[in-house]
Amino acid sequence: MVIKEGHPFSPTFQGIHHIYANKKATHGLNSGEYLDGAVLIFDTITSIDRKDSIEEGVRKHVAVMHKDAKKFAKTGGWGFEWFNGNSKSEKMVEDGGKACFDCHVSEKTRGYVFSRLRK
Ligand code: HEC
Repeated sequence: MVIKEGHPFSPTFQGIHHIYANKKATHGLNSGEYLDGAVLIFDTITSIDRKDSIEEGVRKHVAVMHKDAKKFAKTGGWGFEWFNGNSKSEKMVEDGGKACFDCHVSEKTRGYVFSRLRK
């Protein structure tokens, strides 16, 4: 997905979105059931409008969902984290993932995950 200026999620999520899933998360995307160890990554990169193309700019942030049913029982079994830019240590979640989960809860029937595999 590309979010443009003017979208309700802009400016935070303005840009190109890539979603990555490890093997266990891919299994979950197929079945709706996510096993411990499933990891989903939401990578947001600024988009640059050229005359006849849209190109990638810089990384804005990387959001991570990591399944561990026991450890993250309060947030649907998912650990939520958000890293600034390319940083591997600059974490931006300060509430244990509550705000993230409060929105993802709308996808409860699909394991709290919005993304769908392309058929
Ligand atoms: C206001 C609602 C909302 C909030 C708050 C929110 N998300 Fe999401 N999240 C979404 C939507 C919608 C998508 C699908 C985005 C897309 O397809 O580009 C998504 C996708 C994701 C994905 C990819 C897996 C999936 O569910 O599709 C991850 C990982 C993710 N979010 C992590 C987080 C983290 C970490 C936080 C908190 C820092 C967070 N989200 C807060 C709405 C939200």
